Amino acid sequence: MKITIAENENQFDQMAAWRIIGQMLSKPNSVIGLSTGQTTMNMHRIVSEIYRENPFSTSEVRIYNVDELTNLPRTYPGSCYAMIKSQICDNLNIPEEHFIMPPTMSEDFEQECKMFEEQLAKAGGPDLQMLGIGWNGHIGINQPGTPFESTTWVSPMDPIFEERVRKETGVDESYPLGGLTLGIKNIMQIRKVVLIAKGKHKAEIIKKAVQGPVTIDIPASILQLHPNCEVLLDTEAASML
Ligand code: GLP
Repeated sequence: MKITIAENENQFDQMAAWRIIGQMLSKPNSVIGLSTGQTTMNMHRIVSEIYRENPFSTSEVRIYNVDELTNLPRTYPGSCYAMIKSQICDNLNIPEEHFIMPPTMSEDFEQECKMFEEQLAKAGGPDLQMLGIGWNGHIGINQPGTPFESTTWVSPMDPIFEERVRKETGVDESYPLGGLTLGIKNIMQIRKVVLIAKGKHKAEIIKKAVQGPVTIDIPASILQLHPNCEVLLDTEAASML
């Protein structure tokens, strides 16, 4: 793992944004995976600003998000589809057909998982994944205990995460929420992974993921074995390394 430590949050956001822009410029038909959450919002805004000020061709770029919530309307502002669309895809003029996402509603999610993988493979396979890390080391929505061999699946939400999503999305308790996510095996097969974390609250889990044992109890720890993984941190997230 290559560890890069930005001096402060702003530098972190800028560096993370340039990982995406650099990928698009060096390979205009890149397939790029994003993550939703607090960590990536500024990064998406900065990519959008750079594009607005210095437009470049995005007509062949394909974007997807590593995960998606299930059983809420796609148009709901809390869906990953809606967030990524408004935070970055629309700003970069990514055509709808180049935004590869599973649906949020379906009669057959097993089939949707297969189709998501097939669509990514058909596009050439993911080149870059900007990957957030959860408070407990989850990546995508692969919670602790998920087998490393897992492929795309619908994960049950842990109660803390579910509470947060319900709070953030306002979805009523009567809808069972799940998380369709690339599995850990899929993430390990992505050509380049950039694990991103900022802030003091991520320092402890970053230490476990980067310097602790590789264990299914800390899903992100498997990235120690990824052949092309960069860990991009601000000084606070790196403070326990
Ligand atoms: C959720 C998302 C993950 C994201 C994580 C971290 O679990 N499904 O993809 O990495 O949140 O979120 P934050 O950046 O807000 O800490």
